Amino acid sequence: MKQSLFQIVENVPLTESVYKMQLRGDVSEITAPGQFVNIRLDGLFLRRPISVCDVQGDVLTLIYKVVGKGTEMMSRMTEGTLDILTGLGNGYDLSVSGQHPVLLGGGVGVPPMYKLAKELLKQGKQVSVILGFNTKSEIFYQKEFEELGCDVTVTTVDGSCGMKGFVTDALNQMDYTYFYTCGPEPMLKAVYRASKTSGQMSFEERMGCGFGACMGCSCKTLTGYKRICKDGPVMRKEEILWEN
Ligand SMILES: Cc1cc2nc3c(=O)[nH]c(=O)nc-3n(C[C@H](O)[C@H](O)[C@H](O)COP(=O)(O)OP(=O)(O)OC[C@H]3O[C@@H](n4cnc5c(N)ncnc54)[C@H](O)[C@@H]3O)c2cc1C
Ligand code: FES
Repeated sequence: MKQSLFQIVENVPLTESVYKMQLRGDVSEITAPGQFVNIRLDGLFLRRPISVCDVQGDVLTLIYKVVGKGTEMMSRMTEGTLDILTGLGNGYDLSVSGQHPVLLGGGVGVPPMYKLAKELLKQGKQVSVILGFNTKSEIFYQKEFEELGCDVTVTTVDGSCGMKGFVTDALNQMDYTYFYTCGPEPMLKAVYRASKTSGQMSFEERMGCGFGACMGCSCKTLTGYKRICKDGPVMRKEEILWEN
């Protein structure tokens, strides 16, 4: 883990409430797709965790949805620096993907799928991506995934764009060797049930410290208690215990 200052390069809206922020800084601790960073914001006691979407050279890309005070503050920043902890979380294990992994992202669960897709493509895998949104105006990053060379399916709950329904409706029609997913918990549960193979899912729980010290994110798994921030946020399908 490393604490350092990042310089804001760009902060632009992708949809009405989702922003892309690019920052320049020391990215040396970011070693795997699916890791996250933790951002200090003036006047807020807890840092705000955001997944790594991409790293190119020394430029870090984050995509975040404005849901409260912290993300609203971020959305108004166009320049200056942010104090960021990097190198947090385990990230996805790519070594078990097989030749044709499918990546499912729901809403702001889409960003970590981007770096993951890039890395899997670099390894010569055939990557399918399913991006799930509520409605057409919420869609972002479809073109970016297509430009990487992924086979992209978009689903919208109201059918205003792409396939009508949920990411699992698209998943049910596919053949794949492994799955990786990130999104809201109801979606993760649905993917867990619908999936025909092993896979990994990232849990975006509320967090305290973000680096394993406070136990605020502890959860029960089939292999004992785990801290989502340190032992996760990525969990293997086989270790997940749904408590409700
Ligand atoms: C490992 C990890 C990775 C994440 N990656 C991303 C990402 O890439 N992009 C992104 O937009 N968000 C991501 N999140 C969620 C993000 O951290 C929260 O949305 C953010 O901290 C909210 O801060 P806030 O001050 O704006 O909202 P707050 O004022 O703290 O909360 C406002 C509202 O949002 C809800 N909320 C707050 N935190 C969460 C959360 N973690 N999950 C669900 N609802 C929450 C609260 O219940 C409340 O209703 C991630 C969370 C974790 C733990
Ligand atoms: S948030 Fe403190 S241990 Fe996970």
